Amino acid sequence: MSFSMDNGYNLWLNYSKIDDASLLETYRNQLQTVFVTDGGATMDVIKRELDRGLGGLLQQEVRFEPNPTFQNQLIVSRYAELGEDLRTLVDPADLTSEGYFIRTIENKKHRMVLITAQTDIGLLYGTFHFLRILQMHQALDGLQVMESPKVDIRMLNHWDNLDRTVERGYAGFSIWNWHTLPDYIDQRYIDYARANASIGINGTALTNVNANGLVLTPHYLEKVKALADVFRPYGLKVYLTARFSAPIEIGGLKTADPLDADVIQWWKDKTKEIYDLIPDFGGFLVKANSEGQPGPQNYGRTHLDGANLLADALKPHEGVVIWRAFVYSEHDDTDRAKQAYSEFVPDDGKYRDNVLIQVKNGPIDFQPREPFHPMFGAMPKTPLMMEFQITKEYLGFATHLVYLPKLFEEVLRSDTYQKGKGSTVAKVVDGSLNHKKVTGMAGVANIGTDANWTGHPFGQADWYGFGRLAWDPYLDSGTIAEEWLRCTFTNNENFVGPVKKMMLESREAVVNYMNPLGLHHMFDTGHHYGPGPWVDNLSRPEWNPVYYHKADDEGIGFDRTKTGSDALSQYAPELGEKFGNLETCPEEYLLWFHHLPWDYQLKNGRTLWDGLGIKYQQGVDQVGDMIKTWEDMKPFVDEYRHNQVSMLLGIQLKEAKWWRDACMLYFQTYSKMDFPKEMEKPENTLEHYKSLQFPFAPGIRPTWN
Ligand code: GCU
Repeated sequence: MSFSMDNGYNLWLNYSKIDDASLLETYRNQLQTVFVTDGGATMDVIKRELDRGLGGLLQQEVRFEPNPTFQNQLIVSRYAELGEDLRTLVDPADLTSEGYFIRTIENKKHRMVLITAQTDIGLLYGTFHFLRILQMHQALDGLQVMESPKVDIRMLNHWDNLDRTVERGYAGFSIWNWHTLPDYIDQRYIDYARANASIGINGTALTNVNANGLVLTPHYLEKVKALADVFRPYGLKVYLTARFSAPIEIGGLKTADPLDADVIQWWKDKTKEIYDLIPDFGGFLVKANSEGQPGPQNYGRTHLDGANLLADALKPHEGVVIWRAFVYSEHDDTDRAKQAYSEFVPDDGKYRDNVLIQVKNGPIDFQPREPFHPMFGAMPKTPLMMEFQITKEYLGFATHLVYLPKLFEEVLRSDTYQKGKGSTVAKVVDGSLNHKKVTGMAGVANIGTDANWTGHPFGQADWYGFGRLAWDPYLDSGTIAEEWLRCTFTNNENFVGPVKKMMLESREAVVNYMNPLGLHHMFDTGHHYGPGPWVDNLSRPEWNPVYYHKADDEGIGFDRTKTGSDALSQYAPELGEKFGNLETCPEEYLLWFHHLPWDYQLKNGRTLWDGLGIKYQQGVDQVGDMIKTWEDMKPFVDEYRHNQVSMLLGIQLKEAKWWRDACMLYFQTYSKMDFPKEMEKPENTLEHYKSLQFPFAPGIRPTWN
């Protein structure tokens, strides 16, 4: 038998032949011909996708008709162009400009599947949804779908540098080839746009938030324009990160003070220059006064001044400023978890209406588990955009299988209580809690030049799931996993069931073997690869893991109650009470909010110390179970991807043990207690783990000296 191989390049748009013979026959009968309304680049894209999708799935040539026959036909038509009789069958009242209907219609005159929408982009989204229905082997009879995105801006944030390294990227280099643009259009750009459109992503910020002003120079802007031209028919808008000091660096000004008349004019001119090239440019994404980035505070001004400066420049062109709330300062010795809230919340209502504040899901930094960020729900007059990290900076890079939509779902379903019970983060993000005019969700991309785009074959599910949740933040992560598995691998239930279960459990597994019971930020310095709970020598206190776990002879954990940093007071009173009280604080947030003695008794009667060891062990065991599950999946997956995932799970198991052993040995120097009997003995000494060095760790520019 020859080696079977699928390198994963096609992602979930894997239009392989329907392997159920009778279903194939039914589909072929129902979809004998296709009619697509004429006109425009997006309609051409739709035709090409149907040609490819139906051609692959049905394994026959796709017959496009110049006119609708309404008989055993797929019809893709704008709502305005439908005949009266068809219009009455669909009600466009609830459709946004990006929404669509899919309906199977069977009556005296018609026997057809209709995809209709107000706009061409709506039709494109509907087409991708329709293809997914076929990929998932669902019946077309009685089909009735009505979809509209619940969030306006659904975007990827690429942390791509102009030298093509990717900050926190683990899947190769940046896919933007600045050298060969604008003349050479890599097929990847087109496939990137297809993949995004297929899940409804409609924006992409091309460059790192740690920005380089050069991207705003004409030389680069013509390259950006070339990408924008490729993406436009797919409904994908381009955004750029704006370095706050760009007026000095590329504009020759002496200052970047947001209240300086020349600076104001410079941004106006620069913005106009961009819109002359890219009329549908999305806007600027800004990281300012954070981790060494320049910003308005360098001039004694505020985030509000900075954001409004750019908002005014963008306003005439209908662009938006996405201003990041990820700020904390070395000059502020209050709990880092509190700082963004203190900085932004007092200015609620003062931002221009084209400003969105982009807030990370938790108050620290994309940890395996954090409570939701207290800013959600606390700024009723300002659009707050969610920022998730799809790349796994703190979740095992591209070598661990951790299904992130489960984490995203947990955050979105969290109740902020800001307007009483049921005020979920999802309702803040989709604007329904406070009737927001513009809404958004961003995901830090996990995409690179690797053949399969994301390094780990299962990393694709995180990109896919992010897109699906940005479209509808109320979707269930299990449903999303199932869609992705069926479209990417196979519909065989013996595969889908166990692998879906494995994906859903993988999220808790990583929490267990890295940061159980509310621990956080114990990652080794700089690259964040592996455990470094002992690190205490970095220049800024809040960059040291010891700042977060606060282990000492007495116990472990960060007291964020009234007796400690009181970060809890930034949450609604209901949550302050729940998290503040040891009786009601969920175990998963225990050491996030409390400093507790090593012999503190957990709900199951065991000591905190034993409980930690048991959790670490459980994480390791869960990875062991994943390995067993995957082993059984051999018959359903091509050898190439099966082998890839097997090897990666092997690494994951090794690293889960490394986390367990390094952390428990280190904490033992304080607890001075024996490991619980459930825990396997560490494989090495603490000195060994402390001595490990990783000059090759990806995601930041490696240093070998
Ligand atoms: C993390 C990450 C940085 C990144 C920063 C940000 O701290 O380690 O690489 O720049 O987040 O979100 O701005």
